[in-house]
Amino acid sequence: MAEIKRVGVLGCGLMGSGIAQVAATAGYETIVRDVSQQVWDKARAGIERSLAKFVEKGKLAAGDRDATLKRLRFTTTTADLKGCDIVVEAVTEDLELKNSLWRELDALTGPSAIFASNTSSLTIAAMAAATKRGDRFVGLHFFNPVPLMPLVEVVRTVTTSEETFKRAFAFAKSLGKEPVAAKDNSGFIVNLLLVPYLLDAIRAVERGVGSVPDVDKAMQLGCGYPMGPLTLLDFVGLDTTYKIAEIMFAEYREHRYAPPPLLKRMVLAGMNGRKSGKGFYDYSSDPPRVVDLGV
Ligand code: 3HC
Repeated sequence: MAEIKRVGVLGCGLMGSGIAQVAATAGYETIVRDVSQQVWDKARAGIERSLAKFVEKGKLAAGDRDATLKRLRFTTTTADLKGCDIVVEAVTEDLELKNSLWRELDALTGPSAIFASNTSSLTIAAMAAATKRGDRFVGLHFFNPVPLMPLVEVVRTVTTSEETFKRAFAFAKSLGKEPVAAKDNSGFIVNLLLVPYLLDAIRAVERGVGSVPDVDKAMQLGCGYPMGPLTLLDFVGLDTTYKIAEIMFAEYREHRYAPPPLLKRMVLAGMNGRKSGKGFYDYSSDPPRVVDLGV
């Protein structure tokens, strides 16, 4: 099996920057592509903050932090990823955008390079079919915050070769993660179960079953979840969740995946959660305040 030395990451939003961070920490030369220096600067600052926390807690030596940062490079040119042994894509949930990047890279990268998508809801088959490397295409689905969450779903589609699946699984382990195998169905394992739960929490608020903080408190204290569902929605991003729900609803045509009207209204208003400063909670104060949604 060809050794993985260089890792490419497409997109350095919340997920892409986390994936780049864990790859560089694990010792891989890592090159990250995004559209502008402004986006990288934000990603690099987030990575530096996260690494600083690990150093502070004694989980990472200061020298290793410096070496990690040296292994990270940023670019706006997709072609700069052509020497990578694996490319992990973490751009927005837009199939056309993802496939235009895959098509460009497919023509440039070497025959043994693996393509891996961190998609939350699209099928891997829909991307693999846009390339000539269906046998070397997998899903590698990470969880937010990537440096802390141990799970990676390794997804094999109908065309993925056994060797590619094994290399991708070993790669996830080399990042210090716990991989599980998942079938290429929209949402894989976690989002198949998590997304209806999050959408049902919004429906519970819409129906007045409980207030936003009470729904959160109920699930935290009643079920031992680290975050309540509405806090988690703000954390994942309401715009991201809306896109995921639309894709999963189109795939399964089941009501439980349908985005609730309240979610749509909040996204239309730019209330995308923590990243925009406001969602179910307002993050301009510490602790965050509950937002009056008029429901
Ligand atoms: N890097 C390094 N350290 C970090 C960090 C980061 N990115 N984020 C938080 N930390 C540290 C904090 O500084 C804190 O350190 P301390 O104990 O020394 O103060 C520690 O981690 C714990 O953080 P907090 O005190 O802020 O809060 P919690 O104890 O609640 O832990 C959490 C945070 C790990 C995020 C926990 O709340 C949790 O597990 N939440 C659920 C997350 C989840 O469900 N993620 C999956 C989302 S779904 C998804 O990603 C799929 C996609 O397709 C939608």
